[in-house]
Amino acid sequence: MKDIHIGIIGGGLMGREMASAFARWCALVDLPVRPVLTAVADLNPTTLSWFDRIPSCRQKTTSYHELLANPEVEVVYVAVPHDLHEKVYLDVLAAGKDLFAEKPFGIDLGAATRILEAVRTSGHFVRCSSEMPFFPGAQRAFEIARDGGIGRILEVVSGFHHSSDLDPAKPANWKRLSATCGQAGVLNDLGMHALHLPLRLGWTPSSLFAQLQKGYAERPDGRGGMATCDTWDNALIHAWSTMHGKEAVLRLEMKRLAPGATNTWFIEILGTDGGVRFSTAEPKTLWLFERGKEQWWKRTELGFATPFKTVTGGIFEPGFPDVIQQMWASYLMEREGLLGDRFGCATPEEACESHRIFEAALQSHAERRSVHLATS
Ligand SMILES: NC(=O)c1ccc[n+]([C@@H]2O[C@H](COP(=O)([O-])OP(=O)(O)OC[C@H]3O[C@@H](n4cnc5c(N)ncnc54)[C@H](O)[C@@H]3O)[C@@H](O)[C@H]2O)c1
Repeated sequence: MKDIHIGIIGGGLMGREMASAFARWCALVDLPVRPVLTAVADLNPTTLSWFDRIPSCRQKTTSYHELLANPEVEVVYVAVPHDLHEKVYLDVLAAGKDLFAEKPFGIDLGAATRILEAVRTSGHFVRCSSEMPFFPGAQRAFEIARDGGIGRILEVVSGFHHSSDLDPAKPANWKRLSATCGQAGVLNDLGMHALHLPLRLGWTPSSLFAQLQKGYAERPDGRGGMATCDTWDNALIHAWSTMHGKEAVLRLEMKRLAPGATNTWFIEILGTDGGVRFSTAEPKTLWLFERGKEQWWKRTELGFATPFKTVTGGIFEPGFPDVIQQMWASYLMEREGLLGDRFGCATPEEACESHRIFEAALQSHAERRSVHLATS
């Protein structure tokens, strides 16, 4: 078992999620690598004190530069507001560390392009966080789409819905302000999740039409006043893409105002001879379409068929913490050159491509017209 020393910059929601995935690494069977959380940097001392419960995390600092100067740290995971991505990611690479970077990989296309250039120059191993494709149902949908056998693909719908923003009393945070979340708003927030599988399958939009919507213009600021919220909350992208040599419909749905949804990622791929449907709302269920003399939607329970084997019995249902851990297993195995034919994390190129699509979507909505995307 080889230990990989990890530093986390940004110990908020996602920083702690990753730390807890490392803490239960014993769940993974036969994996030759193990992440050891060694250091954490966050501006907030109260956030840092949460990491007291992780004995291996000896360095806790309010300066991420101190973490980067720690020679023990080999891989840095960064989960900070989007306006800080470019500066922090470039500093990580300049410090000679490998990087696991949160989406959207820069606040806009310009930032993502500069990060991609720095990644290529540095030669460091860099991937972008996107965990939902590690659900067993998502893996199966990917394999079915990749391997063909469902006839001509007619339509693909890929999306991510949640609804917590429907509550007008929810306080504003950096994700509701364009200055910190980015002009792309919900696209920056949820777009990489919806695009990961389509991009991995080579289904880049050739043209798209986008509809963007805002929710409440003001929210409580948490200090007794109100804060202006100016980000897009919902985004629908209707695109054309070439799938297995034929033009097909690709619809992407990213919503922070989806009544009733909590954290629902889904994909549906429909062909003339077959189809597949998976949603995290039914985490162990896969729906398969078959066309014969009669037409069937068949339902099966996949259970815990994750890409990396765990001690969890095959009958149980997977969840968000499990796919976070699977994603890290994939990152660390690929870094070691041991991934084989298993599914890899989102690449810097895919993250950059997602921003090209977000930029076209902003243009499409602003001009109320379909936008052609040049071949990248
Ligand atoms: N993969 C996913 O499913 C997923 C889910 C949520 C968020 N995210 C992404 O993770 C990133 C962070 O989101 P979050 O929800 O964890 O945010 P958060 O607000 O909960 O945490 C951000 C943390 O960064 C810290 N921070 C800010 N500036 C810093 C600096 N200069 N140095 C060190 N720490 C600093 C803050 O104090 C805070 O603790 C974003 O890129 C977001 O898009 C990914």
